[in-house]
Amino acid sequence: MKSKELRQLYIDYFKKQNHKEIYSASLIPENDPSVLFTTAGMHPLVPYLLGEEHPSGRRLVDFQKCLRTGDIDEVGDSIHLTFFEMMGNWSLNDYFKEESIEMSHRFLTEELGIPQDKISVSVFGGDDEVPRDMATFNAWRKLGYPEERIHFYTRKENWWGPAGETGPCGPDTEIFYDTGKPACGPDCGPACNCGKYVEMWNNVFMEYNKTKDGVYEKMSIHNVDTGLGLERVLAIVNKEESIYDTELFRPIINKISELTKVSYDDADEDTIFAFRVIADHMRAATFILGDDKAVTPSNVDQGYVLRRIIRRVMRYLKKLGTCDGVMVEIAKVIVENYSEIYPELKRNEQFIYDQLTKEEVTFNRTLDQGMKVAAKILDKMSVGEVLDGVTAFRLYDTFGFPLEFTQEVAGEKGISVDVEGFDKCFKEHQEKSRAGAEKKFKGGLADASAETARLHTATHLLNGALRKILGDGVYQKGSNITAERLRFDFSFDRKMTAEEIKAVTDIVNEAIRKDIPVVCEEMTVDEAKAAGAIGVFGDKYGEKVKVYTMGEYSKEICGGPHAERTGDLKCFKIQKESSSSAGVRRIKAVIDFE
Ligand code: ALA
Repeated sequence: MKSKELRQLYIDYFKKQNHKEIYSASLIPENDPSVLFTTAGMHPLVPYLLGEEHPSGRRLVDFQKCLRTGDIDEVGDSIHLTFFEMMGNWSLNDYFKEESIEMSHRFLTEELGIPQDKISVSVFGGDDEVPRDMATFNAWRKLGYPEERIHFYTRKENWWGPAGETGPCGPDTEIFYDTGKPACGPDCGPACNCGKYVEMWNNVFMEYNKTKDGVYEKMSIHNVDTGLGLERVLAIVNKEESIYDTELFRPIINKISELTKVSYDDADEDTIFAFRVIADHMRAATFILGDDKAVTPSNVDQGYVLRRIIRRVMRYLKKLGTCDGVMVEIAKVIVENYSEIYPELKRNEQFIYDQLTKEEVTFNRTLDQGMKVAAKILDKMSVGEVLDGVTAFRLYDTFGFPLEFTQEVAGEKGISVDVEGFDKCFKEHQEKSRAGAEKKFKGGLADASAETARLHTATHLLNGALRKILGDGVYQKGSNITAERLRFDFSFDRKMTAEEIKAVTDIVNEAIRKDIPVVCEEMTVDEAKAAGAIGVFGDKYGEKVKVYTMGEYSKEICGGPHAERTGDLKCFKIQKESSSSAGVRRIKAVIDFE
């Protein structure tokens, strides 16, 4: 089966069960300060999981491009990836456990032909706060799954969400494929990561709301949020050993082999690992750069992740012996393979190649500098000495000089490197950045509070005012809202003058003073275009969207939520206008100040 057929089969199956197809959102989340990338199909749906009405109804289906850096150290085995596609179906206060489980079961066994006896599942086993999920257990039993293949696990394994500090969450049931490999021990089961079981699908039953006090309160609505891994399922139905053997990876692997003149199929473990990391990371980099809301490599946020991914590719390419210009050639294969499904890759093709080339030059320059610093340090040392871990880490952290490179140049001079010491520094550094990431996470993805809704409304007014003062060439490049402020990135190629900033501010405050109702209408994309709405239209014809109108000041396609009236915003002020990246400006603004 081809990936294209698999996606279609999934969409068609759920359409038959009265789901409406929605389309993959950007990899860079909108209005969401708490995550750097879209990591699950549910991210773009958070407002709807919190009770907003979705224009397409209460049953939705899609496939969504996702990126997770949490699994980056696992990449290279047969099932883990950074970039992947998640097929998902949702019930927004519609069907619940039994129906969802039956649909998943039928899709896997009847549509894909996976034998039922190769499927094992896990179910939430209960704790002090929430009872054992017997409804889910019974639903699996009713479909004929024997008790031995239904595993009860704790909250660590079988609870999903909330995505932020508070919000909808619930027990989940995970569906695994048993590869038939022997169990690794008496305790081996789906939760074990020895490779016997491959997680395919996760069905989350969002019937709880975690409150600010940490209490899990039963909600009045119940949602189902599911995610099925496309690459894994493709490998399973085609009886392939690993995701890298599927047609989604094989052409990339072959290209790497052709360009580096290193063979993959009879290679040793380290070489296979290098190929897989390169293939996975190149897909991630190509999709980030090919996104309509693309970021460029930098030292902060998404740009930093992108930079690390690209540099890791370069390191492994250098290990295979050839790096110059290779990334662009690999990216071309990825663009070719995917642009029918994700046309944005074709639209942004040149940008992808230009950025990869630029980063290659930058990293090579960094390496040259690192090499000089390393040489200076090593010159003062003699054969048989050990370079301490702190210095090796400083070379890595300050000069971007990877440990393996330090080991290599040191080795040439008969000097060894204190890897343990390096690892210790590395861990300390990681803990610090993890603490930072957690803080970021606490910003609250599920934060659809009145404050963020009002700041979101301010963003629309700002967008409208910018277009009025700076011209229609201005369009939104990104938006990030916390409870305190909005941040808005837009296309414009010079600094705004003080007069322009004042004119924009005045327009927004005029709209606020007029206390205009914020009107939401549902219509097709064509109707929205005809009505003069701005925003992301998507690539598919006939999709229904919400259009928010604020008098003459703004008309935008958007998922909401928003304030009820512009007067709810009180007062608007731009705090800062600066450059974000080439051709993109960034405004930080607040409302409600005295
Ligand atoms: N949101 C759920 C997951 O990511 C389906 O596993």
